[in-house]
Amino acid sequence: MVLTVSLAERSYPVLIDEAESLPQTLQRIFPGRRFALVTNTTIAGLYAERLTEWESRLQLTRHTIPDGEEYKTLATWSGILDTLLNARLDRSTVLIAFGGGVVGDITGFAAAAFLRGIDYVQVPTTLLAMVDSSVGGKTAVDHPMGKNLIGAFHQPRLVVIDTNYLTTLPEREFLSGYAEVFKYGFIGGREMFDFILQNHEKILAHDPRAVIEAIHRSIAIKAAVVGEDERESGKRALLNFGHTFGHALEKFFGFQGVLHGEAIWWGMAGAIELGLQMGTIAPQDASSYTALSRLLLRPTLATRPPADALYDSMFSDKKVHAGKLRFVLPSVPGESIIAADVPVETVRQTLQKVFATV
Ligand SMILES: NC(=O)c1ccc[n+]([C@@H]2O[C@H](COP(=O)([O-])OP(=O)(O)OC[C@H]3O[C@@H](n4cnc5c(N)ncnc54)[C@H](O)[C@@H]3O)[C@@H](O)[C@H]2O)c1
Repeated sequence: MVLTVSLAERSYPVLIDEAESLPQTLQRIFPGRRFALVTNTTIAGLYAERLTEWESRLQLTRHTIPDGEEYKTLATWSGILDTLLNARLDRSTVLIAFGGGVVGDITGFAAAAFLRGIDYVQVPTTLLAMVDSSVGGKTAVDHPMGKNLIGAFHQPRLVVIDTNYLTTLPEREFLSGYAEVFKYGFIGGREMFDFILQNHEKILAHDPRAVIEAIHRSIAIKAAVVGEDERESGKRALLNFGHTFGHALEKFFGFQGVLHGEAIWWGMAGAIELGLQMGTIAPQDASSYTALSRLLLRPTLATRPPADALYDSMFSDKKVHAGKLRFVLPSVPGESIIAADVPVETVRQTLQKVFATV
């Protein structure tokens, strides 16, 4: 399967489960080019043989970073650049990001900066990276002041998805990535809303056809949004459905012990509840949303976060504009709207109600 992210001369293909091997694909699309690859210690261990084979077929330079969000830093990024410079690679080099969202984000940012920008390829190995972070060109590292604060928009030239990588992914990471798939049910149109309602159990059971279709549909939705609004001046903000509550939760836990997708599961519960309270969901659609809400996973949290603490952490989130909170709220099934000026009291009540079930 091949999808295209349409961005005029920067358009690129997303290949899903194509029969060709990665070296074949790279040699076909980038003939005569040199390659370098970034991965992390976990993936290097799991896929050691494959990497050795790629190295010999592509003569690639490899750089392995430690595993973990805590290494998504300028120091790690700088280490990648050192390797590329020490190998005397030039601007024709194609950099390959082989891993989850952390590897993808930091490698993309290295590609954006090396010799003022080189081509790169995303080879995502987590569900989250397949359906979300590998497509769209947002690259970044974290800073002690916050996540993803230093980065660049730099689109990949190619995304190569092989769903076989999911067989080694820990279940918790799979469920976390599934949150982003589920999210597309709120913004990707009625068909995606119904697809989620009908295929939820199959996806949880790792039914290959349902998982592949979920990935395909998710990328098609993200590609369409990014094609329309690359730099998040409008529609791309819809991709943040569930993220205002979700980020508040991640912050409350100091980004420890709760995965991003786990926070987004709770965030989506918050967004539905707020949509019901604000009346953005019409009464005739309430039952559809209640059905979807019943399917939401609510991962275990170490403690019940107090509504006030969550509310306070929302106000230091970068999605706050002129002191007002912006929320992406559900409207008709499969569609959401951006609501500014949501009353403080309504947000507090929503937080109290949603997290009372922890
Ligand atoms: N650029 C974007 O648009 C965008 C969007 C969403 C998230 N992100 C970023 O993505 C990151 C999260 O990505 P993630 O959830 O993929 O986390 P991750 O990259 O940390 O991967 C999760 C864990 O799974 C392991 N892993 C990866 N692939 C595996 C496989 N096939 N088998 C076994 N283990 C495997 C990793 O080593 C890691 O321990 C965050 O830094 C977030 O900011 C970026």
